[in-house]
Amino acid sequence: MLVILKRDDEEISRQAAQLIASGIHKKPALTLGLATGSTMVGVYKQLVHLHKQGSLDFSRVITFNLDEYLGLAAAHPQSFHYFMEENLFAHINVNPRNVHIPDGTIRGNYDQYCASYEESIRKAGGIDIQLLGIGRNGHIGFNEPTSSIGSRTRLKVLSKETLDDNAKFFAPGEESPRCAITMGIGTILEARKIVLLAAGAAKSAAVAKSIEGPITSAVSASALQLHPEVTFIIDDAAAAQLTQRDYYHRVLEMTALLTPDRLG
Ligand code: GLP
Repeated sequence: MLVILKRDDEEISRQAAQLIASGIHKKPALTLGLATGSTMVGVYKQLVHLHKQGSLDFSRVITFNLDEYLGLAAAHPQSFHYFMEENLFAHINVNPRNVHIPDGTIRGNYDQYCASYEESIRKAGGIDIQLLGIGRNGHIGFNEPTSSIGSRTRLKVLSKETLDDNAKFFAPGEESPRCAITMGIGTILEARKIVLLAAGAAKSAAVAKSIEGPITSAVSASALQLHPEVTFIIDDAAAAQLTQRDYYHRVLEMTALLTPDRLG
């Protein structure tokens, strides 16, 4: 596990974009796992900037998003389809045929649909780099607390905390979705490399539990401790409750010296 501590949102976005860009430079047909949420906005801005500068080509990149709200069509402004289009896809040269986001409008046979999403990840050769945010309750994707560490893509009921966090994005009186389709923790752990970003004080407890706490289904992101190649990129406010900050800085200095490739 590599913990990269940065000053603010701007710096974590730059670092994450650099890791992804170097992944694409090394493997132009990279399979990229994508996330949504306010933390990702800056990363996508940076990636769009690199593309517009002419230094980043997405034409062969394959993408898989983590999750989507159940009941929201792609055109709904709060859907993750819409978010991805607005913040990234409309501004880069990704081939729409290479874009995969769970379909929030499916009804009935959810298991079959989720199994087919897993199958398309397998057919694409698995995910090379998976980008993650983190919920205040430690969720990754929509794997709410008590999600099984071996879980696969499935229908998931959203927790009260997540519903409260999301309510502000919906119009007053509009009912926000109660469920989502999400990759499972087991699905996420199969990615070759995982990059988790966190910014802001509201995330500091979840970040500390995920990195320094025990592995527990009560904090889904703690399962990342099982992964051999995970990088946490955290800003000062989100890192406030970590007790080993000096150690992470020293590890980073040595990494830059000995294996700079790991930093992008
Ligand atoms: C949603 C997404 C998560 C994301 C989280 C954090 O719940 N399903 O993948 O990590 O939001 O969002 P934000 O970055 O806005 O705090």
